[in-house]
Amino acid sequence: MEIIKYPDERLRQKSEPVRAFDRKLHSVLDEMARTMYGARGVGLAGAQVGFFYRVFIVDIGSQDERFEKLFEFINPEITWRDGKTSWEEGCLSLPGYTETVNRAARITIRYQDRLGQPQVMEADELLGVALQHENDHLDGVLFIDRLSPLKRRFLKRKLEKGLEL
Ligand code: CO
Repeated sequence: MEIIKYPDERLRQKSEPVRAFDRKLHSVLDEMARTMYGARGVGLAGAQVGFFYRVFIVDIGSQDERFEKLFEFINPEITWRDGKTSWEEGCLSLPGYTETVNRAARITIRYQDRLGQPQVMEADELLGVALQHENDHLDGVLFIDRLSPLKRRFLKRKLEKGLEL
């Protein structure tokens, strides 16, 4: 799959709920995993590969061996947020650019697995941050939208000058 890169407007599209947990969905999820691992990412949302349904995948195993596993989230909803944390984030849609982003320190996320079964997970640290980052993609929100105004201005100037991110 081809990863859509910023500033492509399709990244701003809001994704629709998944209704059919069928073979088509499973093959998209499998393709997304190959794409994410091929790009050495820790997360990928459907919208980043032109699949505008509420799905994302995460595997942070390369950075935190406690979670060496592919997690699939379908129709996710963050139902609880607590505390504050900040991590240096990147995104496969903005290759080569990282910046520190403030997010909730702990979250609860409700979602469905690929069979449509309801699931719930609590997450903090990198996993919690990755889930919040990917969940944002489903609403067309990018991590650069969550930067301080000063950092955003700096980024904008860089883009206007046509510099590489
Ligand atoms: Co991203």
